[in-house]
Amino acid sequence: MAISFKDRVVIVTGAGAGLGRCHALEFARRGAKVVVNDLGGKVDGSGGSSEAAMKVVEEIKQLGGEAIANGASVSDRAGAESIVGDAISKWGRVDVVVNNAGILRDKSFAKVELDDFELVLKVHLLGSVYVTKAAWPHMLNQKYGRIVMTTSSSGLYGNFGQSNYGAAKLGLVGLMNTLKLEGQKSDIRVNTIAPVAATRMTDNLGIPPEVMDQLKPELISPAVVYLASQDAPTGCIIEAGAGYYAKVHIVEGKGVKLGQAATVEDFANNFDKISDMSEAKPNGSGPEVFGKIFGPG
Ligand code: NAI
Repeated sequence: MAISFKDRVVIVTGAGAGLGRCHALEFARRGAKVVVNDLGGKVDGSGGSSEAAMKVVEEIKQLGGEAIANGASVSDRAGAESIVGDAISKWGRVDVVVNNAGILRDKSFAKVELDDFELVLKVHLLGSVYVTKAAWPHMLNQKYGRIVMTTSSSGLYGNFGQSNYGAAKLGLVGLMNTLKLEGQKSDIRVNTIAPVAATRMTDNLGIPPEVMDQLKPELISPAVVYLASQDAPTGCIIEAGAGYYAKVHIVEGKGVKLGQAATVEDFANNFDKISDMSEAKPNGSGPEVFGKIFGPG
């Protein structure tokens, strides 16, 4: 059955270009009313105008869809509130938030300025917090909400020159892990996408053109739109690129119980067993770790 967003109000941040634009168009094609947010700045976050968001709104209207533009920065608290405020004043609800806005300030950790480190955390991590926090009470009240975070393989696994970006991106997974629990009773589901796509963000990484051609940003939207749909799972991280889709889990090995008298040498002598991931499994929440520490086995 076709997945519909009729009567749903969807916010996509950073939707004036790249992935966000593709997500916004796909939601609109499926009947959603869309708030297209974009600061309209450069990849490093400098500059800005609401033109980028307005252009995507025009594209949506040409498809026969409904959309409004918002040019605020997600990293500004009042700006983030205005994104949700615009959805509420225009359509009276907010069903979906896709936290997609992002910038880069790549430098090795030795060279990165702390101001650039903080700005990257502010846009990706706090920007997602601010927009989600503004939408949360509405989702609790209506007992329905879908939130998608945007992480990156750089956060999940690391990437040279991206300590700021990686820290921010894995922070979003931590945010998801708690929100999925706190939202459960109110049917708020929270998921995360880890995209790989040809956008201006990946333009000068030296990826060969024939590979870039396959990394179509449109191929991320099927995963994002599904993760924001009525039947979405919760707490899922999905890696997506060039038509490849895979679930990602943080897993924990079987572990070793060295007991109450464990010493540094015991730990060292058992390091191979402690590191054995052959029976690794994910945990559903932090407290589940108690079961492993004190349970049988
Ligand atoms: P992009 O640069 O084309 O799009 C990002 C958009 O966010 C831009 O339109 C920009 O104006 C907007 N934006 C930046 N700061 C903002 C702010 N403070 N408030 C509102 N809007 C703001 O890049 P792309 O690739 O489409 O990135 C989208 C998301 O996907 C980002 O979070 C990025 O980190 C993430 N990502 C992208 C990957 C890729 O391969 N393209 C890989 C992993 C993650």
